[in-house]
Amino acid sequence: MEFSVEKDVKIEKIERLNLILNAFRDVGRLLVSENDREKLIKGICDILVERRGYYNAWIGLFDGDKNVYLVADSGFDFRFEAMKSHLKKREFVRCIQGTISSDRVFSVHDPIKECTDCVLAQNYSDRGALAVQLAYEGTNYGFMVLSTPRKLAMDAAEKTIIKDLADDIAVGLYRLDLEKERTKAEKDTQRSRIRFKTLIENSLNYISIIQNHSIVYKNPGHRKIHHRMDHAFEPPDFLNVYTGDRGRIKAAYTDLLANRIDRIEVDFRYYPEKNGQEEEGLRWALLSATKIDYLGEESVLTNIMDVTNSMEVQNFLRIQDKMTSLGRVTAGIAHEIRNPLSGIYIYLKAVKKIYNQMGDITKVISIIEKIELASHKIETIIQRVMDFSKPGQPKFVMTDLNHYIDEVTKLTAVTLRKNGIRLVKHLDPDIPECFAEPHLIEQVILNLVTNAAEAMKAFTGDKVIELSTSKSVFKSGDCIVISVTDTGPGIPLSHRSKIFDPFYTTKTNSSGIGLSICHRIILDHGGSLKYHSSKGRGARFTIELPLNNENKNKRGG
Ligand SMILES: Nc1ncnc2c1ncn2[C@@H]1O[C@H](COP(=O)(O)OP(=O)(O)O)[C@@H](O)[C@H]1O
Ligand SMILES: [Mg+2]
Repeated sequence: MEFSVEKDVKIEKIERLNLILNAFRDVGRLLVSENDREKLIKGICDILVERRGYYNAWIGLFDGDKNVYLVADSGFDFRFEAMKSHLKKREFVRCIQGTISSDRVFSVHDPIKECTDCVLAQNYSDRGALAVQLAYEGTNYGFMVLSTPRKLAMDAAEKTIIKDLADDIAVGLYRLDLEKERTKAEKDTQRSRIRFKTLIENSLNYISIIQNHSIVYKNPGHRKIHHRMDHAFEPPDFLNVYTGDRGRIKAAYTDLLANRIDRIEVDFRYYPEKNGQEEEGLRWALLSATKIDYLGEESVLTNIMDVTNSMEVQNFLRIQDKMTSLGRVTAGIAHEIRNPLSGIYIYLKAVKKIYNQMGDITKVISIIEKIELASHKIETIIQRVMDFSKPGQPKFVMTDLNHYIDEVTKLTAVTLRKNGIRLVKHLDPDIPECFAEPHLIEQVILNLVTNAAEAMKAFTGDKVIELSTSKSVFKSGDCIVISVTDTGPGIPLSHRSKIFDPFYTTKTNSSGIGLSICHRIILDHGGSLKYHSSKGRGARFTIELPLNNENKNKRGG
């Protein structure tokens, strides 16, 4: 008798183990194959009821705020609906609270007595219950509750199995989270790749990638608005770059490839037709180029914008600024012309006198020579004014800067004198000639001197403008430094960041484009324009122009 009871128990245990193994295997399969959470937990409940022989099983899943967002059950009738609505309201019964507060399996020996708050307990006569959290790596995904024969509820081996199963389910839920994140990340990447591609393809700029001097990619979008920019920048010969700009474009490209510079930012002119040569149709392009790694190969990424229209506006502004500058010095021009003119008048009178009195006719020759000189002087002044105001292509030549600075200040002399301003010049006679566009430099000096004069207009005290030139030796190369210093009120801190902005002015009847044009002109010379000012101590504007800069990134126009 004893023996057979023992044998029955053994058989029962083996059968139970078999059931467990089967259930485990099926749940395991489901955990790796099912990607839908709802189907997964419902499937697990069904397996546990059908295969393992639990009376019923239910699983609830938490969202991040511990709200139950998904419930599955198996082995219940309509009575489970009441439990669902409790869960929805976060009314958690004892066993669920147990799973929230501890990772141990929570067991109930006699639900009818112990679980008075549970709507399901009435079905549990002669049954026990086991509840366990579904947690992995510190995240509590939910809980699982099983209704078991009463004696199993207290069985240590059964509890261990349930705990293992719960851990497996939690890992499965974790895997689904990962999967969700991965798909989302994949989608995001793809979306951003598509967005990026659309952006590049439709960009109205001309974007290209160059490998070994040949263009391996060009975006199609740019053709929509611009002339045929796609030949604008073609290494190694750059045949569509305007001949006057080709040298410096080639040099910049070589410098970039040789890592002497890390990006090209430059504007240049190009022929819009392939192999075009007509200067008539020349257009302006603004280029930005950097080195990139493209499909594992060293490449050059270029971004080119057609800026012809904005160049036209700039040119217009520059001419307008020239005209304003001329307007400011008309007094000077008149004065400059009046001097030789009154000379001519006096000489002519002298000639007349000689004739009338039949005097020394040999003197007449020297007087006529003086007249010639004076009219030549007038002609030069008129020529200079015309040159200065002439629109059209600027010409960079080797320039004696002192000469032009001297000339332009002559025109300002009268205005300065009238305003009680002294002009002091320290022009170093030994500075070398510099590659520059003389009339543009004149325009800058004129602007800076006029600004200084205007700043000192209402100023009492010693009004001095000092103009100096000198040569400086820098690591980056030799420079000519031109500075314009005044004894005016200086530039208040609050204006300092803005004075180079176009149209920024503190004057009532002024355009505010002067300094922005000066800045642009000096940049086009490959140089820099800076200023120093301390309150009440005047302002100093300093121009640095590099010597030996024929090949640098500078442009005319
Ligand atoms: N030497 C200077 N001293 C004080 N302020 C100056 C000086 N030069 C320029 N500024 C300031 O910079 C502003 C911008 O100058 P600018 O671009 O030449 O335009 P505008 O002369 O038409 O005002 C001026 O309005 C003035 O406030
Ligand atoms: Mg000005």
